[in-house]
Amino acid sequence: MTSRKADLIVGIQWGDEGKGKIVDRLAKEYDMVCRSQGGHNAGHTIWVDGVKFALHLIPSGVLNPKAINVVGNGVVLSPESIIKEMVQFEGLEGRLFISDKAHLNLPYHSLIDQAREKLKGDKAIGTTGKGIGPAYSDKINRIGFRVGELLNPAKLCVSILGYFEQNSAMFEILEISTPKKDELLAELEGYKAKLAPFITDTTQMIWNALDDNKRVLLEGAQGTMLDIDHGTYPYVTSSATVSAGACTGLGINPKDIGKVTGIVKAYCTRVGNGPFPSEDLGEYGEILRKQGHEFGTTTGRPRRCGWFDAIATKYASRLNGCDELALMKLDVLDGFAEVMVCIAYELNGKEIDYMPANLEDVKPIYKSFKGWDKSVGARSLEELPKEARDYILAIQEITKTKVGIISTSPERDDTIIL
Ligand code: GDP
Ligand code: IMO
Ligand code: MG
Repeated sequence: MTSRKADLIVGIQWGDEGKGKIVDRLAKEYDMVCRSQGGHNAGHTIWVDGVKFALHLIPSGVLNPKAINVVGNGVVLSPESIIKEMVQFEGLEGRLFISDKAHLNLPYHSLIDQAREKLKGDKAIGTTGKGIGPAYSDKINRIGFRVGELLNPAKLCVSILGYFEQNSAMFEILEISTPKKDELLAELEGYKAKLAPFITDTTQMIWNALDDNKRVLLEGAQGTMLDIDHGTYPYVTSSATVSAGACTGLGINPKDIGKVTGIVKAYCTRVGNGPFPSEDLGEYGEILRKQGHEFGTTTGRPRRCGWFDAIATKYASRLNGCDELALMKLDVLDGFAEVMVCIAYELNGKEIDYMPANLEDVKPIYKSFKGWDKSVGARSLEELPKEARDYILAIQEITKTKVGIISTSPERDDTIIL
């Protein structure tokens, strides 16, 4: 039997590329939208008719009333965070499903994350402080707790208290106190009351959907340069953000994946610490931050800004198997006299056109392109100035990947689909 393939949306820079906007824009064509990794470190902003929605754990298909939304086993789920997020939407029962195998990201994970960051001082990763690293560490250490365990709060409460006892030395150093049994139990019972109707075996659901010829869209969180294996380690997140992560994070096989769309900004941003070769610490970076409203959805931190990095994009395109790119925020470059693209790196006095294991010592080599006045709001290629079209063609050529979608404002319909 042949089943339909699932299409994938994946961030291919340092996150915040505009994945949420594209998933929302495409969601009307899909029956199911699935998140496979990350947690509430993600912040996906969607604007529809001037109304803003910020999503962290709920897939960005939720604004399409017909799409079923799945939070897969590879996600680390904060019950507190998803419950808060669910309040914005009515009638989620039957439209939102959470894997019983997803790992729990509990309040103590955030406390550990924040305490460790503090201890690291100037070596801090600059995490979102949402407990992502500690929750994934517990999973890999085989000492984590899974969403399915929420269905038996009394048993889970005892297990969590046991975990505190076994890790008492660490908790003492980090000055984190053991929760009181009755408070912990009440908290877990509260989570169960709100989340039980949504917890299920999502792997089976996705297989059934594909076998029934339903259209399934997979929504990545974070971005390729933050991938635990292929990103700028250790300044990365703790999950596999590349397309391969969608397989383990949802229980589908590589042959189940169809079209892969890599989401990139027409320039580059990063939030948190770590190398960023094409960062502009001067006037241009400031203009990009201002014009692009580059402040984090999750933490409100100013994002570091710089020029489009074609080497990083080419690397990410190959890693993810991108069939095409969605080039986001083209309008943010409106008004620049010239626009730069990083086309190579200099490493130890040599020019290289690939991504080395360590980006700390590379310097960007730029090519300059003529700027343009106005692309904002364009909904067809013909509406774009010639210089903007030339810029898009150059990106296609250098990254060896077709540009299939162009986005010219935060609004759902200001999107050119080629
Ligand atoms: P995500 O994490 O990849 O979903 O991206 P974020 O939502 O964190 O950040 C992208 C930001 O850019 C959001 O505020 C979007 O509303 C906004 N955005 C998306 N596409 C465009 C665009 O084409 N132009 C402009 N100006 N803003 C956009
Ligand atoms: P979306 O899905 C941008 C960054 C953090 C930090 C590093 C590790 O909105 O694109 P973590 O809290 O995950 O341990 O932090 O990863 N980071 C993101 N940056 N967008 C995100 O998600 C991010 N999620 C994590 O800033 O540098
Ligand atoms: Mg974001």
